[in-house]
Amino acid sequence: MGIGTLYGIGVGPGDPELLTVKAQRILRQCPVVAFPAGMGGKAGVAEQIIASWLNPAQSHLPLKFPYVQAADELTIAWATAAEAVWHHLAQGQDVAFATEGDVSFYSTFSYLARSLQQQHPEAIVQAIPGVCSPLAAAAMAGLPLTLRQQRLMVLPALYTVGELETALQVADVVVLMKVSSVYAQVWQILQAQQLLERSYVVEWATLPQQVIHRDLQAHPTLELPYFSLLVVQVRDAVL
Ligand SMILES: C[S@@+](CC[C@H](N)C(=O)[O-])C[C@H]1O[C@@H](n2cnc3c(N)ncnc32)[C@H](O)[C@@H]1O
Repeated sequence: MGIGTLYGIGVGPGDPELLTVKAQRILRQCPVVAFPAGMGGKAGVAEQIIASWLNPAQSHLPLKFPYVQAADELTIAWATAAEAVWHHLAQGQDVAFATEGDVSFYSTFSYLARSLQQQHPEAIVQAIPGVCSPLAAAAMAGLPLTLRQQRLMVLPALYTVGELETALQVADVVVLMKVSSVYAQVWQILQAQQLLERSYVVEWATLPQQVIHRDLQAHPTLELPYFSLLVVQVRDAVL
């Protein structure tokens, strides 16, 4: 009996119909389906997205990834999760790990896969790409994200004022991930650069609770969920 494969599956930004055909096939054929555990007794986002695609015979493996910055706490969590996955792989069972959005774009899967391969170099890992949130947000806003020669920059989070100002100078389109905790500071910078009219925020892209805030001039503060991002169309494309 060989070892199983760990599949990292990007399950898209929220709408379950945005799973790829390949993602659905692999999700349904793996005997074990893993996902980041939800908090407060609620199912996590990836778990909710895939719920309708699973069959009752599959076993579920919720994995705990704490929302902390402390490196040692995170390393322990990834190593523990990797061991839980390995337990199944070593018995020849394939494991599908569902991750929100795309699998290689700021995804927990990358840390899980790295820990697994450090602890068990013989582990087999395969990634299945998915629709990532900036692409989904632009589609929901009904706008192209980039055109022609436009340069796109994505900033992950906790950007400094200087970093954001530099991005606005060098890129034509800037996407701010994880904007919820720094929105008010970002608004001040966009106001100083007269870019509020050219910016929009998408909360929960593609889900029923989706909200789009266009033209941010009237919104110096917003109570945003973690699943929100901001797009700045800094300069138009030359058509
Ligand atoms: C850890 S990153 C995960 C990114 C994900 N792997 C992807 O491909 O989009 C989490 C951040 O992605 C953004 N995000 C993910 N899904 C979103 C959605 N449905 N709507 C708006 N923003 C989303 C938010 O900025 C959130 O803070």
